[in-house]
Amino acid sequence: MFRSITPLMRSDAARIEDHLIRLCTDDRSLRFTAGLVTDETIRRHVSAIPFERDLVLGFVSQRGSVFGLVHGCVFTAAGRTHVEAAFSVDAAWRGRGLATALMQALTVCIADRVDDKGATVVGSCAARNLPMRAVFGHAGMTLRREDDEFHAHGVVRPSLAMAA
Ligand SMILES: CC(C)(COP(=O)(O)OP(=O)(O)OC[C@H]1O[C@@H](n2cnc3c(N)ncnc32)[C@H](O)[C@@H]1OP(=O)(O)O)[C@@H](O)C(=O)NCCC(=O)NCCS
Repeated sequence: MFRSITPLMRSDAARIEDHLIRLCTDDRSLRFTAGLVTDETIRRHVSAIPFERDLVLGFVSQRGSVFGLVHGCVFTAAGRTHVEAAFSVDAAWRGRGLATALMQALTVCIADRVDDKGATVVGSCAARNLPMRAVFGHAGMTLRREDDEFHAHGVVRPSLAMAA
């Protein structure tokens, strides 16, 4: 399963778009932490992904469709590399460890890229999003509650270890 996770590029934009558009209204809200997320919003979001900078990994079926996705948005804050991770898995594929595997793959990718200082990984999810909270928790990230949201925080070092 883990081996079939693949890095995605600009040439994969259409299949990423199709995957995100398949999310139902509620899943879109959870994924984008927003109210109403239209197809057009998703198209604009995907066309704006800087694939050369960010880490985008997915499960791709033999027919070429993306059925699980993690987008690691890379940015610098206080002189330190940060990666904000957001996940989505097709409804039919949930509960089989795909998001957990995507988190592990993202951690490996970050560890391959970072210098000795390491990188901070962050993520957030609605308090009611128990699967997402479990994925962050399994990765060893610290979870902090703020109103109806949980904010996850962890550090990836070149050694691959994630520390709170
Ligand atoms: C959140 C999401 C990505 C999880 O994907 P997934 O592939 O089903 O996750 P996993 O199979 O790796 O499961 C993660 C954990 O959640 C647990 N889990 C699943 N459903 C659960 C539920 N209803 N209540 C509590 N725990 C649950 C699983 O048991 C697993 O924990 P375990 O390894 O200890 O058993 C998926 O539900 C999704 O795409 N949701 C819509 C978009 C979204 O919410 N994105 C998150 C914003 S960052």
